[in-house]
Amino acid sequence: MTFPLSFRPGFQIVPVCNLTTPEEASPLGGALLAGGIPVAEVTLRSPDALVGLKRLAGVDGLTVGAGTVRTAVQLRRAVDAGASFVVSPLLTEGLALAARDAGVPFLPGAVTAREIQLAVDAGFTTIKFFPAEPSGGLRVLRALCEVFPEVRFVPTGGISAATVLDYLAHPQVVAVGGSWMLPQGLRAAGDWAGVTAEVAACARLMASSP
Ligand code: 3PG
Repeated sequence: MTFPLSFRPGFQIVPVCNLTTPEEASPLGGALLAGGIPVAEVTLRSPDALVGLKRLAGVDGLTVGAGTVRTAVQLRRAVDAGASFVVSPLLTEGLALAARDAGVPFLPGAVTAREIQLAVDAGFTTIKFFPAEPSGGLRVLRALCEVFPEVRFVPTGGISAATVLDYLAHPQVVAVGGSWMLPQGLRAAGDWAGVTAEVAACARLMASSP
């Protein structure tokens, strides 16, 4: 199943949450909701990320997915923990099959023409362009878009408030992923009002995107 989140103002952004501890899940979910972006991608980068994902998925009104999913086993565990969509930095046959079996929207990652073509051959029409900035950013993405006019992209990696609108202005960019609206410093300090303010600023930016 390709990635059918209906991207519209407020949903043109996929906040990437690297939860440092499962205890962060509840206040972080509250900050996302209060700031006006009711979506979260929890990255599977720490041993108890699934515990955090499960808690976040329990926050009413929040659409929660799993990110950094590299294997079919991880995908199944993420869905069992409550992920309603799955994002990966790559694509393998095993992942594509597991996503189909689980019936969840799946966003595979690709950054080269070959990887994009393999994803297209596997039936995917929306692809995460990752890692966006280290791979050449908008300049490289523009060139790839010309080669793949039928593909829609969700660039992620190194994107900030300063660059997000430039990405979203491209007609083949349907959404952008990033973690800049959930600053680690504010979270470590327990400044959830500050995190909410960052999320709200991001939501306003999204709303200003044409
Ligand atoms: C991801 O996993 O999608 C990225 O790590 C998010 O990138 P960022 O933290 O640079 O926004």
